[in-house]
Amino acid sequence: MDLVARLADIVGERHVLVDAEAQAPFLTDWLGKYRGAAAAIVRPGSTEEVAGVMTLCTARRIPVVPQGGNTSMSGGATPDMSGRAIVLSLTRMNRIRAVDPIGNAMTVDAGAVLAKVQEAAKAAGRFFPLSLGAEGSCTIGGNLAANAGGGAVLRYGTMRELTLGLEVVLPDGRIWDGLTALRKDNTGYALRDLFIGSEGTLCVITGAVLKLFPQPLARATAFVALRDANAALSLLSSVRARCGDRLTAFEFMTGACLSLILKHSAEARLPLGAVPPAAVLIELSDTDDELALTERLEGALAEAVETEIVLDAAIAQDGVQAKAFWRIREGVSEALVREGKAAKHDVSVPVAAMADFVAAADAAVIAAAPGVRPIVFGHLGDGNLHYNLLPRMGQSDADFAALAPELTRIVHDETCKRRGSISAEHGIGQLRVSEMPRCKAPIELDLMRSLKTLFDPHGLLNPGKLLPAPVEN
Ligand code: FAD
Ligand code: MLT
Ligand code: ZN
Repeated sequence: MDLVARLADIVGERHVLVDAEAQAPFLTDWLGKYRGAAAAIVRPGSTEEVAGVMTLCTARRIPVVPQGGNTSMSGGATPDMSGRAIVLSLTRMNRIRAVDPIGNAMTVDAGAVLAKVQEAAKAAGRFFPLSLGAEGSCTIGGNLAANAGGGAVLRYGTMRELTLGLEVVLPDGRIWDGLTALRKDNTGYALRDLFIGSEGTLCVITGAVLKLFPQPLARATAFVALRDANAALSLLSSVRARCGDRLTAFEFMTGACLSLILKHSAEARLPLGAVPPAAVLIELSDTDDELALTERLEGALAEAVETEIVLDAAIAQDGVQAKAFWRIREGVSEALVREGKAAKHDVSVPVAAMADFVAAADAAVIAAAPGVRPIVFGHLGDGNLHYNLLPRMGQSDADFAALAPELTRIVHDETCKRRGSISAEHGIGQLRVSEMPRCKAPIELDLMRSLKTLFDPHGLLNPGKLLPAPVEN
């Protein structure tokens, strides 16, 4: 029986998409950088259906590309152009399975949208802290497979730190029910943490148990103008010393980044008038009194103004203004897409080395490509910067695309020189596969390839992503 008919037997005919128009949204990425083709888009409704699909695809050696909200920034969820693969979309599996406010845990389907999970936590009087610009469409399965970070990592950690249990389907169709809410379980290898961040190459994630936290009752948010990344690091250190774990977010933006946001966003208004050389968005949160929290932030900023670390600062007077500050920060991804095809880098370096990294990378890329425009922003508190490069004004996309691989090598060399990482949160996907042999030690690639062969011996899960093919000796 032909593949499509067999798939329809498992998930139901209307959940197997073969029509080109119906398939289209699943076959290109959010950035519009990658395009693929698929034998079918398959939308299972349960873990058992996922197991049935994986068993069939393994028997017939059909590649499978798992997909959630398709918001990957590294082309991780887009199939190649061969048309042999199926795209396994988890978006129908979007139930909140259980909420346990006493145990501070929530069990969800992999296709549950992040914003819905945040709402369900809030409805139960709790807080799920993962927060990304894509939260309206990204899914928990994609957040897990990419080990997503976002704006609150500084206080709460990445998806790996926010997850208690996992349910996965292996390429051979076996289901691992690891849906535990235990905080302590020392019985063997950390299978859960191995699957988190595996980018759809080792398993299909079908469910998860997530940690819940006390709801922050008070927030204090400030938009702060400063000279440069060095000043931002000094401010980070002093705010952290004064505010401790209340510091929830510390988002850096250069002046060039702010100008780009203003150029492409009609409603964005900088709270401090002119575009500063650099800025940070700071957020404190607590389960305590809002006035005390705001005064604490005011004290930290007043001290920084006195010591001239800070040029100027605006503290949000209410939640509406705080949201307006965040809209400036969240506007950057869209502004970059509207400006053109950026060469995107998602690096992390030791926090103390960040300013030095930005200065060295800027100098090196401008020397290599005069007129190139660094647009630098990101989660400075985690040591993670989104170091994006735009073409020289007037340069064609094709011309810049020819330059981009060399510029990426320069940025990654400056990163690796400082024992940094070439992907802090977006993952390797297909965008950075070619850089892995340069940036990971041979032993790391060997161990990862051994794990890949163990879990996916036929190399069917998400081919061409994360791991480069071994070099034939
Ligand atoms: P997809 O894009 O569908 O897939 C991502 C990867 O996970 C692919 O490799 C895919 O094969 C795999 N996958 C998806 N679902 C499953 C599953 N159930 N089982 C196994 N593998 C699976 N990322 C951050 O970390 N921090 C940010 O601040 C951030 N901000 C963003 C802002 C914008 C505007 C956009 C567009 C993206 C942003 N991202 C950010 C990137 C992206 O949103 C995250 O990587 C997110 O976790 C992807 O989730 P998704 O459901 O869209 O996954
Ligand atoms: C962000 O922090 O805004 C995201 O990671 C998206 C991006 O890098 O554009
Ligand atoms: Zn980010």
